[in-house]
Amino acid sequence: MKVIDEHKNWQQLCRSWRYEDKTIGFVPTMGALHQGHEALVQAARQNCDVVVASIFVNPLQFAAHEDGMRYPRFLPHDMALLQKHDVAALYAPSPDDVYPDDFVTSVRVAGLTEVLCGVHRPTHFDGVTTVVAKLLMMTQPHEAFLGEKDYQQYVVIRQMVRDLAMDVHIRAVPTVREKDGLACSSRNLYLNDSSRAIAPRLYGVLTEGLAAWKDGGQRREIEKECVSQLLRAGFTSVDYVSLVDDVRLQPAQEAQRHNHCRLCAAAFLGDVRLIDNVGI
Ligand code: PAF
Repeated sequence: MKVIDEHKNWQQLCRSWRYEDKTIGFVPTMGALHQGHEALVQAARQNCDVVVASIFVNPLQFAAHEDGMRYPRFLPHDMALLQKHDVAALYAPSPDDVYPDDFVTSVRVAGLTEVLCGVHRPTHFDGVTTVVAKLLMMTQPHEAFLGEKDYQQYVVIRQMVRDLAMDVHIRAVPTVREKDGLACSSRNLYLNDSSRAIAPRLYGVLTEGLAAWKDGGQRREIEKECVSQLLRAGFTSVDYVSLVDDVRLQPAQEAQRHNHCRLCAAAFLGDVRLIDNVGI
């Protein structure tokens, strides 16, 4: 596997595969790779000739009080895992290579970034779209693979790609879960034993909430009940539980009773913020 830290070399390498008529599958990550990332790489492998990945802890998507600096970094482990899955090249730049001193551009998707996590992390998605736009422009992949655990991120990036007519297909890969239902996430590493024991309830509560919706329950009642259940289970606080349509991320209506609907949540265990969602 080639490991590259300069965007010029990365662009050149990716371009060379394009000239050879190879399809490129791209998996952007922030490292601390887990089974969820492995599923992304495997999906890319199944759909494209060449699989490439990036590892970059993007400072723009963390607010000053958030956990950007303490985000787990395991480059040797991550490289071994990517190599095991036959990833052809990894872009692992320093912040300076992505954001030189004179960098002033920001990419913003309106509307979709102002609901759910966007209410609580108002600058987060601008950071995500800015870096993903840059990574996509540099890599020029045919397809890029994102996890459904970050469902809002997937919808926002898909919209950005459509709006900017980027020639790439964004694919969502189903969430990979631990045996007890907890969605795989790099943030799970922060959980202490007692928080780790409570964490799977997030998935359990959302699954029960979605079942209640399918059975004819009222949206607001279900959202409220999910919040109470999470607090009762031991979550410290709940940012939101929202039942939304899976395209515009607006409150689900009767038309979404049996399809195109997602129950999404973000909740804290101590200072660890977990997100998850389930959909029909
Ligand atoms: O999901 C992530 O790991 C990040 O938000 C992404 C898409 C790599 C952008 O930094």
